[in-house]
Amino acid sequence: MAKFIIEKSGPLVGEVEISGAKNAVLPILAATILTDEPCEINDVPLLSDVDVMCRILRCLGAKVDVDEKEHTIVVDAKDINNSEIPYDLVKMMRASIFTMGPLLARTGKANMALPGGCSIGSRPIDLHNKGLRMLGAKITLDDFSVDANAPQLKGSLVYLDFPSVGATENIMMAASLAEGYTTIENAAEEPEIVDLANFLNKMGARIKGAGTDSIRIEGVKKLHGTRHAVIPDRIETGTFMVAAAISRGDVLIKNALPDHVRPVIAKLLECGATVNDEVDGLRVRGDINRLVATDIKTLPYPGFPTDMQAPFMSLLTTVRGTSTIIETIFENRLQLAGELSRMGANIRVDGNMAIVPGDKRPLHGASVIATDLRAGAALVLAGLVAEGHTEVSDIYHIERGYENFADKLNALGAKVKRAE
Ligand code: UD1
Repeated sequence: MAKFIIEKSGPLVGEVEISGAKNAVLPILAATILTDEPCEINDVPLLSDVDVMCRILRCLGAKVDVDEKEHTIVVDAKDINNSEIPYDLVKMMRASIFTMGPLLARTGKANMALPGGCSIGSRPIDLHNKGLRMLGAKITLDDFSVDANAPQLKGSLVYLDFPSVGATENIMMAASLAEGYTTIENAAEEPEIVDLANFLNKMGARIKGAGTDSIRIEGVKKLHGTRHAVIPDRIETGTFMVAAAISRGDVLIKNALPDHVRPVIAKLLECGATVNDEVDGLRVRGDINRLVATDIKTLPYPGFPTDMQAPFMSLLTTVRGTSTIIETIFENRLQLAGELSRMGANIRVDGNMAIVPGDKRPLHGASVIATDLRAGAALVLAGLVAEGHTEVSDIYHIERGYENFADKLNALGAKVKRAE
């Protein structure tokens, strides 16, 4: 299996270009099922998760053309002839659940293996099911699969007990072709929801309020093909911001949208890093003597993103003073603490809180495991500043969500090698 071998690197300096957002492109690709006309998606990041979504669409009968050079995918879902997704695809990516709403709306049925839990938490789909049931779907579950049927979805009021990103997206897609009005209350407000709503509206949907906690959808009879460019990835943006700070470097992050990373900017400023909003992007500098501890609590958007918690944990092992991190979104997302402790950090975890003692215990290289996507990226960042060399294994997790991660870091002066 592939791994990254990382040597201690100096300050990262230069410019990096952010790719399209993984968490936006996956539901957008699923939404192409809603029309029998071709859709062209631009600024697509080349990631293994995107590849899996393309395989799912093909398995459903869609024609999918990927132009890697242009970062463009054209999906023609005219001949959707299957509404079943096999386990070998579902198990590769939880986001396969995004096809449930569109399949139901377009074909009246959807059947797939249950995505199950993953290393960051149990990740149930009860809110997806609740929402689709409110729209009139009949959903049956056994231990392995979910089966949904709805000859015609009907608009309804859906209150989400938690502002789940995936459930909001699934319901929004299904409601676009439902009869009548749907309101999603306590909806998730993430920028990826807004991007999906913009895409759906370009297809002819009538969605208002995306980006707030109340989304109103007037169902239409038919959606048509369109063209859409995906927003830049705010988590990749944040990861490179942390890379600049942890290496005490000076990096211009091009194609970054400052409005999407406000909590990350705020926390970096609290740590003593410099963040400037320049014409071309965000410039982050980490002064060698000045970085200090801060406290973090993850929350739904616009709170501090759970996906940025791991990169910050790496950063906070290198600053003056003790920090605390509270994870409120996923129950197992502090696993990085154990891996960083193998590198010399003495992080104590108590329930959903981690206490990070800071730079009194400098990091040293070690063999560590990418337990999930963001923890994997965070270990690479830690490896950049650890004495000696660090080997990060199971990097398929990292490649699910970061396009050319090693190449982008190396262009800034990092020493990261990929080895089989
Ligand atoms: C999405 C992102 C992921 C990010 C997360 C939170 C994608 C592809 N992934 O995941 O990177 O970390 O948002 O910002 O966009 N929950 C339930 N029942 C449900 C659904 C969710 O209890 O039916 C719980 C989850 O277990 C979790 C919380 O709600 O504790 C948040 O999950 P959710 O917002 O749904 O995350 P995802 O859409 O899976």
